[in-house]
Amino acid sequence: MGDHEAHGSEDLNAATAMQDDRPDIEAGRLLFARPCRFVKGVVAVAGLPPEQGIEIAFAGRSNVGKSSLINALVGQKGLARSSNTPGRTQEINFFDLDGFLMLTDLPGYGFAQAPKDKVDAWTRLIKAYLKGRSVLRRALLLIDARHGIKDTDREILKLLDTAAVVYQAVLTKADKVSAKHLEDVTGTVGAELKKRPAAHPRIFVTSSETGLGIADLRAELAELVGYDKGATP
Ligand code: GTP
Ligand code: MG
Repeated sequence: MGDHEAHGSEDLNAATAMQDDRPDIEAGRLLFARPCRFVKGVVAVAGLPPEQGIEIAFAGRSNVGKSSLINALVGQKGLARSSNTPGRTQEINFFDLDGFLMLTDLPGYGFAQAPKDKVDAWTRLIKAYLKGRSVLRRALLLIDARHGIKDTDREILKLLDTAAVVYQAVLTKADKVSAKHLEDVTGTVGAELKKRPAAHPRIFVTSSETGLGIADLRAELAELVGYDKGATP
């Protein structure tokens, strides 16, 4: 019994030490603990805010979990509006993370429960934004862990490759699938992205529901803006 307890606390100490060894995780935590505010919603290219600072776009099919992921990263449930209905976000919403980073929540592409002319208009807007925005440092390409990459994703991947915008895959809703399925889908997505010129090799596995992968994604974005090295806005 005594031995067992001793082992338990050793394990705990080891786990704590490991956390302390991850300054990138701490930098991510601190960056995303800063206030984040909604700046504006944009429905046409003419309405885009001035290009300054660093932007990260959250792109993906309708209902994949873009708005939920932004909320999970900043730790504010209602900041970006999410919904069960595909087609919830109908404009590009800009969120300013305390001057360090602009997060852009894009409308989804693919199927959406909205009129066709509206969907066509926002799809044109997404494409124009993704290929023409000089301050866009990276696009996070969200992929539902249940479904993997679909043809509508491939259209966007092609556009990003052509525009030389670096994109990084983020598997979402990992809580909805088994560990085995997650491993398989990560492998398939990784194999496909390997062949694409602008794809970042690291894939994130996340759940906005359980928080899986959120700390790592925060760390990645903190590194991208140099927050760990004392960057100022
Ligand atoms: P559009 O704006 O319509 O393109 O959707 P979106 O990509 O912004 O998705 P949103 O964040 O609105 O989420 C869609 C639905 O999926 C909502 O009902 C969320 O609660 C749910 N959802 C999002 N992320 C997760 C997750 O990690 N796990 C689970 N179980 N559900 C999630
Ligand atoms: Mg949304």
